[in-house]
Amino acid sequence: MIRVEKVTKDYTVGQTVVHALRGVSLAIGRGEFLSIAGPSGSGKTTLLNLIGCLDKATSGEIYIAEEPVSGKNRKELALLRRQRLGFVFQSFNLIPVLSAYENVSFALSLLGVDGAELEDRTNGILAEVGLQGMETRLPGELSGGQQQRVAVARALIKEPDVVLADEPTANLDSETGREILELMLALNEKHGTTFVFSTHDRMVMEFGRRLIRLHDGQITADERRES
Ligand SMILES: Nc1ncnc2c1ncn2[C@@H]1O[C@H](COP(=O)(O)OP(=O)(O)O)[C@@H](O)[C@H]1O
Ligand SMILES: [Mg+2]
Repeated sequence: MIRVEKVTKDYTVGQTVVHALRGVSLAIGRGEFLSIAGPSGSGKTTLLNLIGCLDKATSGEIYIAEEPVSGKNRKELALLRRQRLGFVFQSFNLIPVLSAYENVSFALSLLGVDGAELEDRTNGILAEVGLQGMETRLPGELSGGQQQRVAVARALIKEPDVVLADEPTANLDSETGREILELMLALNEKHGTTFVFSTHDRMVMEFGRRLIRLHDGQITADERRES
């Protein structure tokens, strides 16, 4: 469903060039629950940003649903992101002036869904992530774990092909982080949604049904694991 082929990414800062990715190739199939593990600076965020069409590769190609992303313009990429991809971030990235309900329904309303369907789907997903009764709270009135649940609901409500989560537990204590991983795994199993998440945390990486290790911009291991 997603193919990364011989992708490199260089960042130029002043006179120096940082080789953030050095020839990464990877195929991700439908329904995978994949962790990308590596130390800080190994290229995790860069790789997720490229798969998420938030940035462009220096060389190589990325295919989403067999379509190469390099030929697409800004508008086409925005549409692709909106329709096919869901994002969960380390810092939750909720809109602070919108309630939990509004943060989630807004994402779906951008796809043209409204009325009773919008209401039903928003309430449904909020209940599924365990936030029933908290619909009217603002992000600032929720714990970190609850905010990340809102973010997961916001990513999922569009029924995306894949959810990309860059260090989703980095700002959570380990017990809350585990709960978020358990939630994502349950949603993966129930809906078949593909999840790709990054982490430098051993406990979190162990959740992956497939584990990819990144080191200095290269894949050093790709293991499938028993469920
Ligand atoms: N916008 C940027 N400009 C310059 N260098 C960057 C930028 N983003 C990342 N890098 C560098 O690229 C490498 C990989 O970074 P990153 O993808 O953020 O790794 P990780 O998410 O695993 O910590 C690091 O050396 C980092 O300093
Ligand atoms: Mg990172």
